Amino acid sequence: MSTPAEIAVAGGFNFDLTAVDGAVQMSLVADTLRTLKSRRLWNDDILLSTYPKSGTHWTWEILNMIVAGKAEYTKHWQNSAWLEYRTEEELEELASPRILHTHLLPRQLPETVWKQRNKVVYVWRNPKDCAVSCFCQDSQQVWRDGTQDKYSFMGSWDDYLSLYRDGYAPSGSVFEHFHDWHKAAEEQMICQIQYEDMIKNCVHEIRRIAEYLNRPLPEKTYVAIAEACSFSNLKHANENIKDQTFHNKWQQGSSGYFRKGKSGDWKNWFTVAQNEKFDEISEAKLNKTFPY
Ligand code: A3P
Repeated sequence: MSTPAEIAVAGGFNFDLTAVDGAVQMSLVADTLRTLKSRRLWNDDILLSTYPKSGTHWTWEILNMIVAGKAEYTKHWQNSAWLEYRTEEELEELASPRILHTHLLPRQLPETVWKQRNKVVYVWRNPKDCAVSCFCQDSQQVWRDGTQDKYSFMGSWDDYLSLYRDGYAPSGSVFEHFHDWHKAAEEQMICQIQYEDMIKNCVHEIRRIAEYLNRPLPEKTYVAIAEACSFSNLKHANENIKDQTFHNKWQQGSSGYFRKGKSGDWKNWFTVAQNEKFDEISEAKLNKTFPY
């Protein structure tokens, strides 16, 4: 039987995947995952959990603005506060309350998150749109491990989708992520937000998050935050105003993190056969499909 690393490399990734605690991840992060569970988080840490490409940058900026009480952009990109990729020392330099983000499963997180009842905001998006957005990122980004530029996907969309729906993606199975986080949200006080709802009425979702955090703000501040975090404004701020230290490198002419910002773009990518196969797996794993 092939290992996740062999499957990933044969399928078109030019980096290894590995299974830690039963979940597929980039090998780069495997050592961190083995010790992360016993790490202590601060009592007031706020955790943002997403599967990749579900609107992490968007929600992270909103969370920061809610905590600041004003529509002012953070200095750095959200990768500066990435739980599993930044060192403990780097994260200790962030001001309290820290807004940390993660793509991990609930069972992979520091156990203190659940014992201390840290505030957790979980954002999810139609996994088909995540698949397209992940493919664009993984095939256009030249990710660095600190010494080399090498983390990319080299195959076709069809190659990528096959790996993705079988769970061989850099953050593991989108179905497992969806399943485990929805289950956790039944048991813990987690604020669940859907990307598509943010597209429809961002002010409403910002208000929900602020109330969950016990940090209600005047209505006009919610409106100002939604406006500052609109697709075009946030794209401009990230690409032109922010310090670029924590911004990964992308190939010349590629879309970057802020690609389209729409719901339903998967319909421009999936063939009928790809869609049927995806729905079949989704139905088997989640008892649910995502037609919109
Ligand atoms: P697309 O590739 O479909 O455009 P993440 O931050 O988790 O990496 O997610 C990135 C996705 O969120 C990208 O999706 C990006 O365009 C979208 N996005 C980022 N900011 C957004 C905003 N303000 N409004 C809507 N979508 C946004």
